[in-house]
Amino acid sequence: MYKALALASLSLFGAATAQQVGKEQTETHPKMSWKTCTGKGGSSCTTKSGSITLDSNWRWAHVTSGYTNCYTDNTWNSTTCQDGASCAKNCAIDGADYSGTYGISAGSDSLTLKFVTKGTYSTNIGSRTYLMESDSKYQMFNLIGNEFTFDVDVSKLPCGLNGALYFVEMAADGGMGKGNNAAGAKYGTGYCDAQCPHDIKWINGEANSDGWQPSDNDKNAGTGKYGACCPEMDIWEANSIATAYTPHPCSVKGMTRCTGTECGDGDNRYNGVCDKDGCDFNSYRMSVKDFYGPGMTLDTKKKITVVTQFVGSGSDLTEIKRFYVQDGKVFKNSDSTIEGVKGNSITDAWCEQQKTVFGDTSSFKKLGGLKEMGASLARGHVLVMSLWDDHAVNMLWLDSTYPTDKDASTPGVARGTCATDSGKPDDVEKNSPDATVIYSNIRFGPLGSTFAEPA
Ligand SMILES: *[C@@H]1O[C@H](CO)[C@@H](O)[C@H](O)[C@H]1NC(C)=O
Repeated sequence: MYKALALASLSLFGAATAQQVGKEQTETHPKMSWKTCTGKGGSSCTTKSGSITLDSNWRWAHVTSGYTNCYTDNTWNSTTCQDGASCAKNCAIDGADYSGTYGISAGSDSLTLKFVTKGTYSTNIGSRTYLMESDSKYQMFNLIGNEFTFDVDVSKLPCGLNGALYFVEMAADGGMGKGNNAAGAKYGTGYCDAQCPHDIKWINGEANSDGWQPSDNDKNAGTGKYGACCPEMDIWEANSIATAYTPHPCSVKGMTRCTGTECGDGDNRYNGVCDKDGCDFNSYRMSVKDFYGPGMTLDTKKKITVVTQFVGSGSDLTEIKRFYVQDGKVFKNSDSTIEGVKGNSITDAWCEQQKTVFGDTSSFKKLGGLKEMGASLARGHVLVMSLWDDHAVNMLWLDSTYPTDKDASTPGVARGTCATDSGKPDDVEKNSPDATVIYSNIRFGPLGSTFAEPA
């Protein structure tokens, strides 16, 4: 929701990206299978082979002719990168050592992302990965009329971390061929989301080096002049304490480069092309405080199956429903117990009730609500699986009292039990380097096809 400077990465080799293809490390995508289902109840599912690629922001970028970094720590080499276009021509992004450098490993149908990985040359923080259909194309999904189901283990995710599984309207080829982008989806290019992030190093085949400001609290990140906007459907943003699912519509289609007001920067948060707040369903925020957490109804000490249904047809999306399964038992999503907000699923009406009662600005409605979200989903989305800490607001919007200066008893302010001084990147990186999220057993198909839906 307040996702901003999400990234982090390498230090010595300098997390870097570029647009030509480097030859120093062969890119071998970890394999991860998933299933498409038909019929009812999850009994007729077919396994599809798939694989994972790492986002280009995390990759080593160096001059095409050798080993010199194009980007080191949080700055660009001003000789090689005098402007974005020539930088993208001069620099290459390379293959990834998934487990050694990035702490990413895939089982047959699972993906494990480890938080801090100390490699030979670098310390890596978090990661962002995409599901691929082939070596050079992202797997595209149209969620409308379908349900998306996966298992997740959040038991090793403390306050301040976010194991996120979500969809964004990226191009299937990662923008291959745009500008100087010769790397494409194989190397994880083309990311965008509804925060219109400025920390994206390569946009439309150019380096985002213009006006680049090194972050003042993240030694691996910075922000450029351009942002990368696109509609985003957050299926799962969570740690062991709190979780939310959130549609974020935008007025733009697909990956769109922005500057200034259209990015919704600073005071223009509600004047941009994307709905940065989204319409979030977080059970704790809807005042059900014993539903999700360690030892609770959904026990985050154990694996949880998460089912999300996109009710509608064509490009019409009318409702986003949530079920959970744990230990063979199916749970409906918790009902809101906030006065004036009724229901346990996301509809336009529910969102407006929630925004009104919480006193939040409804950029969700202004940017078209579920109708616009549906139009975006129907164009096709890419599946993202990531793990990150939050250099902007310590993930307090997800798991704590936020804004921190408001009374936790004010409706909408309490989002989880994490302390208001928790989640600082320095603390979590030092104290919880082994934090890990495991995503597994992805299933996709028409409503009711992936699990035994309650009557
Ligand atoms: C920047 O790039 C130039 C040209 O490749 C190189 O000579 C120089 O050493 C680089 N600077 C740094 C700090 O890496």
